Amino acid sequence: MKLIVLGAPGSGKGTVAEQLHQEFKLFSLSAGELLREEVAKNTTLGKEIKKYMEKGNLVPDTFVTEMVKLEVKTKKEYILDGFPRSVEQAKAIADLKITKVIYLDVPEKIVIERLSGRRICKAGKHTYHLKYLPPKKKGICDKDKTRLIQRKDDYPKAIRERFKVYHHITQPVIHFYQRKKILQRVDASQSPEKVYAAVKKILRMK
Ligand code: AP5
Repeated sequence: MKLIVLGAPGSGKGTVAEQLHQEFKLFSLSAGELLREEVAKNTTLGKEIKKYMEKGNLVPDTFVTEMVKLEVKTKKEYILDGFPRSVEQAKAIADLKITKVIYLDVPEKIVIERLSGRRICKAGKHTYHLKYLPPKKKGICDKDKTRLIQRKDDYPKAIRERFKVYHHITQPVIHFYQRKKILQRVDASQSPEKVYAAVKKILRMK
């Protein structure tokens, strides 16, 4: 299976991808995480990427597309989380022959609350929410015991910009895959457990 998880910032793409990875050992690739790894290396390229990300803008298409394609080149099955995010990116991966697209549909008001309460571990691999998915020990990652921090783009100004970008550039991707008849909508305003159950039902992975 080659799966895309699409949705607004904070709709729960990373959470669903992580759940599928944990239960079925499916290879999961988050475009945002890949980019954050490059930023953490503090290279010239990383510094350039950081400027786009911290403002909530998209990193240029060609760069992200090449990076993602390279990562999945040798994989038969995978989940793409947060990619493609523009129609140009979607067209550029036509050769990957994506089998299904899950669209996590959730009202903006709800995702703003999710983003403001999100915390990630310092290693950047695990995500929590102060109210909906708290760690066992306050401020500490359950899995790798690193400190929990807030992403720079989870502050109000960057969140507003991310939504603008989402409406103008990413929403057309939903229609792109709807026309290809491989997109299925999930009501992502439900609890993480219910969202995950709905995704598994669509994928017949119960
Ligand atoms: P990225 O890291 O992908 O950010 P995003 O798309 O804005 O998505 P998020 O990671 O914010 O949210 P999510 O949908 O994964 O939700 P999560 O599961 O964490 O990208 C960051 C930046 O990188 C972009 O702005 C851009 O600059 C760049 N970039 C990335 N991809 C790119 C591309 N293809 N092209 C160009 N640039 C690109 O959940 C959010 C919170 O809610 C968490 O706290 C979670 O615990 C909680 N939660 C999850 N599900 C539920 C639920 N059902 N109920 C209650 N709480 C929930």
